[in-house]
Amino acid sequence: MDGNGRWAKERGWPRLKGHEQGALNVERICEACIDEGVEFLTLYAFSTENWKRPAHEVAGLMLLLERFLSEKVAMMNRNGVRLTAIGRIADLPGPARKRLERAIGETAHNTRLTLTLALNYGGRDEIVDAVRSIAAEVGERKLDPSQISAETISNHLYTRTMPDPDLLIRTSGEMRISNFLLWQLSYTEIHVTRKLWPDFGAEDLHAAILDYASRDRRYGSSVENLPSPSNAS
Ligand code: IPE
Ligand code: MG
Repeated sequence: MDGNGRWAKERGWPRLKGHEQGALNVERICEACIDEGVEFLTLYAFSTENWKRPAHEVAGLMLLLERFLSEKVAMMNRNGVRLTAIGRIADLPGPARKRLERAIGETAHNTRLTLTLALNYGGRDEIVDAVRSIAAEVGERKLDPSQISAETISNHLYTRTMPDPDLLIRTSGEMRISNFLLWQLSYTEIHVTRKLWPDFGAEDLHAAILDYASRDRRYGSSVENLPSPSNAS
C-alpha cells in the first residue's frame, strides 16, 4: 500500500494524513475485490523495515491499525471477510496485537474473502522462521533432510494455508519487491501502477485484473507446451 506519504505531501499535509486516507481505502478495495470475485487479498501494511521510521510515524501507524481493527470488524462481517495476519505478530505492540487477535477471532467464520494483513512482515525473516522450524523438526528426527522439498518450505511459511498469489499490484510506481512474499511470488504476475495507494480505486483494481488476464502464464514452460485452458491454473 505504497504512496501514502507522497499523497499527503502533494496536499501539503502531514504524512499521517496520508496513512489515514490509506487505511480508509482498505474497505473500498475489499469491497471491490469481492465484486471481482477475488478470494485472497494480502496487503503489505507494515514491514520489518518500517520500524526505522520516526517514532511518531510508527506510533501513528500502530494507532491507525488499532482503530482499523476495532472499527472495521462490522464491515468485514457484513461482507464475509475473514481477517488473517502474517509476520512476526508476537513483536507488535500489545494493544495492536490484542485487537488483531480479537478481530481475527470475530471474523474467522467468514468465507468470501480472506484479507491478510502483512504486519511486522519481512520476506527474508519469513524464510528464516521457516528454516528454523524445519531445522527443529530435523533435530527432533521428525524429518529427514533428504525429504525436504519446495513443498516442505511452502508448508512452513506464514502463508502455508494460502495459495501463492496470482497477481502482485505495486502502487506509486516503484519497481521493487521490497522484501514482500519472496518465496511465494516466484510465478506471480506483476502490475505496477503510478497511482498512489489512497487514490487506488475499484476501477484501478479492475484495470490491473484485465492486465493480468491478458498475460500468458507459462510457469517456465514453452508456448507450445502450455496447458490446455481446461487445466491451466
Ligand atoms: C505507506 O506509504 C506504506 C506504509 C508503511 C504504511 P509510504 O509511507 O511508504 O508512502 P511514500 O512512499 O512516502 O509515498
Ligand atoms: Mg513508500
